[in-house]
Amino acid sequence: APVVRIADLVAKKARHEPIVMVTAYDHPSAQVADAAGVDVILIGDSAAMTVLGYDSTVPVTIDEMIMLAAAVRRGATAPLLVADLPFGSYEVSDQQAVATAIRFVKEAGCDAVKLEGGGQSASRAAAIVRAGIPVMGHVGLTPQTANATGGFRARGQTADDAVAVLRAAIELEEAGCFAIVAEAIPVQACAAIMPRITIPVIGIGAGPDTDGQVLVFHDLLGIFAGPAARFVRRYANVRETMIEGVTAYADEVRSGAYPAPEHTYGMPAEEASRLRE
Ligand code: KIV
Ligand code: NA
Repeated sequence: APVVRIADLVAKKARHEPIVMVTAYDHPSAQVADAAGVDVILIGDSAAMTVLGYDSTVPVTIDEMIMLAAAVRRGATAPLLVADLPFGSYEVSDQQAVATAIRFVKEAGCDAVKLEGGGQSASRAAAIVRAGIPVMGHVGLTPQTANATGGFRARGQTADDAVAVLRAAIELEEAGCFAIVAEAIPVQACAAIMPRITIPVIGIGAGPDTDGQVLVFHDLLGIFAGPAARFVRRYANVRETMIEGVTAYADEVRSGAYPAPEHTYGMPAEEASRLRE
C-alpha cells in the first residue's frame, strides 16, 4: 500500500472519504494495522492501560512510549504514524514540548505527535509545529486531565461545555494542527463543531459526522479484559482465542501430546552410535 501522508488525509476529508485510525503499541499490532490498510496508526498513551497495566494514562513515561513507538515504526510502512505525548511531557513549557516531540521523531521515527486540550496545549502545539513536527490535537474527553475536567464522562453535554470543546478545537486548528481527535462528545456538539473546523476531525464516541474514526486496538479486537466504553464496537474476540490457544498448549504439555515427533531434532545413526559408546 502507498505511504499515507497528511495531504492524503486532507484529500480524503475533501472527498468525504472516512479516515481510518487505530492504535497500535508494538511490532505485531503495527503489522496487523498496516496489513488491514488503515490510514493512521496512533501510538496512544492508552498503552498505559492496554499493554502496561497502569490504571490510567497518567503514569506512562516518555521512555516507555518511545520504546513502543519504535516497535510500531519497525512494523508499519504505509500508515501515518502519530504518537501521544504522555502526560507531563509537554505542559511545563513550549521548550519542553518541542524537546519531547523531537525525541518521538528522532528516536522512534514517528511522523507526528498528539497532545490533549486547547488553551495552553494549543500554544505547545504551535511551538512543535514551528519546530517542523506535525501535531494532532485532541478535544472532548481528554483522559490525561480527566480529574481536572469532569472525569471519564462525555464532554460537551451542555451548550456552554460544547462551546468550550469547540473553542479548544478552533485554537488547535489556529495553532497549525493538521487534524484533531474528538472524543466522547454528543452528536449535537459534533454537529456544531464540524462546520467551523477545516482540518480533519477524527472521532471516537463523537458520532458518524466526523471525517474519520479511531478505536483502541485492544478494544475493537476484544483483547482488553476490562469494561469497554459506550463507543466501542467489538469486531473480534481475540482474548478468548489467545486463552484457548495457551490452554490447549498447557493441556498438551501436561498430557504429553506435545511435543510430537515432528517437533524434535535427530542425529545421524552413526553419531548416535558413537554417542552410545
Ligand atoms: O490513547 C489513545 O488511544 C487515544 C485515542 C483513544 C484517540 O488517545
Ligand atoms: Na491518548
